[in-house]
Amino acid sequence: MWTGKKVILGITGSIAAYKVIFLTRLLIKQGADVKVIMTPSAKDFVTPLSLSTLSGHEVLSDLYDGHSWANHVALGRWADIMLIAPLSCNTLAKMANGLCDNLLLATYLSATCPVVLAPAMDEDMWHHPATRANLEKVKAFGNRVIDVEIGPLASGLHGEGRMAEPERILQFMEEFFFFAPDLKGRTALVSAGPTYEAIDPVRFIGNHSSGKMGLAIARELTRRGAKVTLVLGPSALFEGLEELDLVRVQSADEMYRACITVFPGVDIAVMAAAVADYTPTVVAAEKIKKKEGTLILELVKTADILQKLGQLKTARQVLVGFALENQDEHEYAMKKLQQKGADIIVLNSLRDEGAGFGFDTNKVTIFQKDAPPLSYGRKSKQQVAKDIVDKIANRLYE
Ligand code: CTP
Repeated sequence: MWTGKKVILGITGSIAAYKVIFLTRLLIKQGADVKVIMTPSAKDFVTPLSLSTLSGHEVLSDLYDGHSWANHVALGRWADIMLIAPLSCNTLAKMANGLCDNLLLATYLSATCPVVLAPAMDEDMWHHPATRANLEKVKAFGNRVIDVEIGPLASGLHGEGRMAEPERILQFMEEFFFFAPDLKGRTALVSAGPTYEAIDPVRFIGNHSSGKMGLAIARELTRRGAKVTLVLGPSALFEGLEELDLVRVQSADEMYRACITVFPGVDIAVMAAAVADYTPTVVAAEKIKKKEGTLILELVKTADILQKLGQLKTARQVLVGFALENQDEHEYAMKKLQQKGADIIVLNSLRDEGAGFGFDTNKVTIFQKDAPPLSYGRKSKQQVAKDIVDKIANRLYE
């Protein structure tokens, strides 16, 4: 995808400049045509010779070199993408205010292409109100900013401010410039979180589901262009819900009714909620008072939402369920695939570390009707969501 793409790589004075050598190599390896512009102080951290050798172009730095003038307007118009990495606090401040005292700034001000910035600075500088205001300003100008990372800093301190790693910068640019929303025009239903089954006006039967996995899937589907309805049980998640059609429910019965209503209109349904399998037969109208002896609650089975959707499903729809098991995992997952009429079952094993309820990571095996199971390593829930949505998209377009 980078073949023939013209990239201007601007380097400013920061210790993170050494990473740009790797970044240049990555871009060249991918087929990009890279021209490097350095601010005068960048040369204290990395040599123009290394970068001219890697890029195959003379490294530019001065507006005038005694007898000729560097044409920053032509440079700004030549590029398909301009990346400034590392972006120092000083250059950021100049960009925010339109200053133009070196070739990099002159080219930035002349650039007609998208501009991506990868800042690097010490934590206190990163958090200073002036820096925050400058970042907001350059974002408002349309520049894209790659968040800094947390780690050891040049000052010897540990904190926020490290420039993103070259691989992440490349990935960010690829997502931004080349990403095609493959689920555009598609609709999806996702269930997430626990359900609470009322015992009396103050008590309920619930579970430890956080809703994070379901939300990650809903967001990934949205990112790829789908219009998503999220049916969310009583979860503490309040962030990342923008762009979703949110239906908040409490009980298994409410979740069932919400899902059944939305399902006929969607192409994709992912049942990631941890739905209570049983609910009290009667909900006491008044708070149950403590008495001598034991208290016996009678429970009745809830409707299985996934199974019901499996019965209603048409050939154009893709239905995904989860299985959380702690023994004979593969056997139970296969059984769920058949019994519930799903196209995909995502298995979480309770025996895997860092997987399942509450964690930010997960480790899954994906079962499909017509393919061998696929086991993945431990990943962030966001990354797991990508793997699951890839499988959904394959089924939709097969
Ligand atoms: N599920 C559902 N409705 C229910 C119970 C479960 O839609 N009433 C869905 C879950 O959202 C999940 C899948 O079914 O996608 C598997 O749920 P799980 O609780 O693991 O399985 P159960 O069918 O309840 O079976 P068991 O308790 O025997 O594991």
